Amino acid sequence: MISYKNDREIEAMRVAGAVAATVLDEVSAFIRPGVTTREIDEFAAGRIAAHGAKSAFLGYRKYPCNVCISVNEEVVHGLAGARRLQFGDIVSLDVGIRYEGFIGDTARTVAVGGCDLRAQKLIDVTEKALYEGISQAVAGNRVVDISRAVQTFVEAHGYSIVREFVGHGVGRSVHEDPQVPNFVEPGKSTAKLKPGMTIAIEPMVNAGGPDVKILKDKWTVVTQDGQFSAHFEHTVLVTAAAPEILTCPRVAHTA
Ligand code: MF3
Ligand code: CO
Ligand code: CO
Repeated sequence: MISYKNDREIEAMRVAGAVAATVLDEVSAFIRPGVTTREIDEFAAGRIAAHGAKSAFLGYRKYPCNVCISVNEEVVHGLAGARRLQFGDIVSLDVGIRYEGFIGDTARTVAVGGCDLRAQKLIDVTEKALYEGISQAVAGNRVVDISRAVQTFVEAHGYSIVREFVGHGVGRSVHEDPQVPNFVEPGKSTAKLKPGMTIAIEPMVNAGGPDVKILKDKWTVVTQDGQFSAHFEHTVLVTAAAPEILTCPRVAHTA
């Protein structure tokens, strides 16, 4: 069941989105060679608390960390630990927070210090694919229009789309209807986009093949072929006009 947000709920989603975006900016700025992923997670926990928010991921299906930190061939849901980031690594950061009952969900992949051109191109194409998808998030379109825009752009650049994980409605819960896949499923009907829908669009893009597997820790999703993966995500409001990106920092709500 899709939950359509009224004006009051939309304003609350804007604030939650601003908190999530601010935390993602803060955590991104904390990334440097030599830092461990546990230090990143602890820093994130501190920033989330400083904004008066709670991690939406910690404890979700027993997920044990505050933010998702996924390095290089890790796609999503990496676990914080003793690993030290090195110059040239790429790290995907996914921040989900709850603020006054509403969720903001946003992710990006950043280079640690710097990275080679191959990795930077993967990052850039994944980010642009997110904006291609967002541009289709307008009332009257269907979810498949978002999926097609993302897939077409990514595959035109020779990369592949992860199929096991998808975007989603978001609001009072992290994962609401509808699912928002980053690929077209031929013959499948998808929901019509209507004003008041709030959805997380989140392409996960692999430099090599699309296949992934889950490590023995039961969480970390990695590429089968060991090639790098990137992930970008925004929480977006569908309106009668242009899509509104909710996961943008707003000065009034920074702490
Ligand atoms: N990656 C997911 C998303 O952005 C959420 C992670 S759930 C967790 O929708 F439990 F792994 F944290
Ligand atoms: Co997310
Ligand atoms: Co999400």
